[in-house]
Amino acid sequence: MTDSARARLDELCRLIRHHDRLYHVLDAPEIADAEYDALFSELQALERQHPDWVADDSPSQRVGGTPLAEFAAVTHEVAMLSLEKVATANELAEWHGRCLARLGNEPLAFCCEPKIDGVAVALIYENGRLALAATRGDGRAGEDITANVRTIPSVPLRLQGDEAPPRFEVRGEIYISKQDFKAFNDRAKAAGERTLVNPRNGAAGSLRQLDPKITAARPLKMYCYSLGWLGGNWRPQTQVEALERLAAWGLRTNPEAKLVQDLTACQAYLGDIEQRRDALAYDIDGVVVKVNSLDQQRRLGAVTRRPRWAVAYKYPAEEATTRVLDVDFQVGRTGAITPVAKLEPVFVGGVTVSNATLHNMDEIERLGLRLGDRVMVRRAGDVIPQVIKVIKEGTGASGEAGLDDVQDPRMANTVETDLSDGPDSSDQAESDDAKNTPVDVQEAPPADEDPALVDPSRIQLPSQCPACGSPVVRPEGESVARCSAAATLCPAQRKEGLQHYASRLAMDIEGLGQKLIDQLVETGMVKTPADLYRLDVEALAALPRMGRKSAENLLRALSASKSTSLAKFIYALGIREVGEATAQNLAAHFGDLAPLRNASVEDLEVVADVGPIVAAKIAEYFNNPDNRALVDDLIGEGVHWPAVPAQVAAMPLAGQTWVLTGTLAEMPRSQAKQKLVGLGAKVAGSVSRNTAQVVAGPGAGGKLEKAEEFGVPVMDETAFFDLLRTNDAL
Ligand code: IVH
Repeated sequence: MTDSARARLDELCRLIRHHDRLYHVLDAPEIADAEYDALFSELQALERQHPDWVADDSPSQRVGGTPLAEFAAVTHEVAMLSLEKVATANELAEWHGRCLARLGNEPLAFCCEPKIDGVAVALIYENGRLALAATRGDGRAGEDITANVRTIPSVPLRLQGDEAPPRFEVRGEIYISKQDFKAFNDRAKAAGERTLVNPRNGAAGSLRQLDPKITAARPLKMYCYSLGWLGGNWRPQTQVEALERLAAWGLRTNPEAKLVQDLTACQAYLGDIEQRRDALAYDIDGVVVKVNSLDQQRRLGAVTRRPRWAVAYKYPAEEATTRVLDVDFQVGRTGAITPVAKLEPVFVGGVTVSNATLHNMDEIERLGLRLGDRVMVRRAGDVIPQVIKVIKEGTGASGEAGLDDVQDPRMANTVETDLSDGPDSSDQAESDDAKNTPVDVQEAPPADEDPALVDPSRIQLPSQCPACGSPVVRPEGESVARCSAAATLCPAQRKEGLQHYASRLAMDIEGLGQKLIDQLVETGMVKTPADLYRLDVEALAALPRMGRKSAENLLRALSASKSTSLAKFIYALGIREVGEATAQNLAAHFGDLAPLRNASVEDLEVVADVGPIVAAKIAEYFNNPDNRALVDDLIGEGVHWPAVPAQVAAMPLAGQTWVLTGTLAEMPRSQAKQKLVGLGAKVAGSVSRNTAQVVAGPGAGGKLEKAEEFGVPVMDETAFFDLLRTNDAL
């Protein structure tokens, strides 16, 4: 019995490691999350029964027990070097020329990979087990962050197979993906918790937590990119071979790493990655180009703290410093008033930026922003530029105060880049980065000064809407301030609403851009979206910068837009909290507008992804007589959509109310709820006489008793899964 339990425990560890690797390293899971969870629970149960069998590298042991008091220092056996930077094709060609000269014009191939904006770490594996993880520090010595790195699912605690050297060091970058960063912050915001400032900061701060439980809750990932200290007899010939071996041992390597045969191919790689920069799953600041042959690397050698055989090709910085000249308040489609910083123009993310969103008044307070402040601005890809922090001048700590003198915005970039990662200062800067960021979460707002002291640099919310003069309201506990006028009465809201209505994902009205909408609203020709369909060619053609031809084209586009889909129409209405995906779910669920218009909050809550807040907003929208009139008006003007098969009626559980209770072993309750909703059922939180069916897992309590009292049928999880299976819902 014990033997078989032991064998099962080993088997479970092996299986879980295998699936961990498929999921976290290879991004190719083979089993459902629920199956994985079941294996994990089984392992935990066995380990509870046999505590002395729990191995240090068991998949259950990623999070250690007690928090650390401090990080121990670790001296790197092989120094962690930094890289020379180049920013132009010419500089890259010069570097290439220097390599060629030193190697007597031997052919040179390169291994290129994205330079991820994260935190460099070194891992030591001994006999296939993770023995130590350290930060780069100043390149010579870093800090022991093993307990934290153990929590990162893509870092194996035990390597695959038995071919890895008995002891070796692997280096790589720990980072937070863009998607994980957003999801983490969305959840933190919803829970009223502090958010991460940016992915890089988030990664650095997460690794510097004394309590590994906090690190474990952060979505960290690692890509390995090179070997450090290497024991045993095996020596790779090339960088690419080293990467292949690392991957074979179960370490995660970047699939974007490519072998390129010459400088031209290298330039093509740089162009390709730059073009795809926004679409990559993580932030990068450039590409690392390495001579592929390790023999050539050895012969090229290193100069003070950076190798001659590699170079970092940097893309335009996505962050730069500038000054806030003023703050404007813009009114959005739903009346939300957004403060926008007017900036001294600065070159960032490849363009000159002069506006940056400040989101809301809470954000201004959190930043501690005042007019005239010097700030760090970030523009990544097509994302709206953001002010990410105020730079306290005169502290000299980060050297940024010195940037005051810099006139040319491009210079600001260069200087800033050098400060953070330049060839001469990068060793220091890398370690400072981590040390200067003891908190990776946004700091609490500073204590307020006496409001009686009127400070001209203080940024104040206007008391009246800048567009229509109506009072601005900011409900208790909400960070968003709004214009109190109805959408149809405030020109700013009207313009934004029309822009949304005409946008590509909504009614897709070609040629109806912001400038024209501004004209139409300002001349009073259009108040509501329905007015668009009543425009005539004469009036349109008479507008400045609008010829007869454009007027006719616009009318044609307007007429074409009348034929739409229910989902697009719902989205076009601009109901608060109803984005494109929610509109699609609503359309699929209700099939037509009439049942949606008349749906109660409870009816709405059963729609996939519609929670109580969204449901309330939808109901509120359709309860407003102005909105109902607008919808009628639009339909009266000929807006129509093909009938969607009324899914509700075709569904096997339509009209039934189900209740879930107890724990389901195989599926989270939220997923079970979705499955039921997908079959047409409503899922309620409590049992009544009208409940059609109760699904009860272990631990079901009061609801089960109620079901018995009312004579409501009860099924267990197995029966529930059978039902899902027969309905093709599994
Ligand atoms: S190779 C000899 N490859 O860039 C230097 N570095 O200054 C070996 N980095 O902080 C570094 N992605 O953490 C290399 N694919 C990559 C990288 C990468 C990011 C970082 C690294 C270090 C800095 C080098």
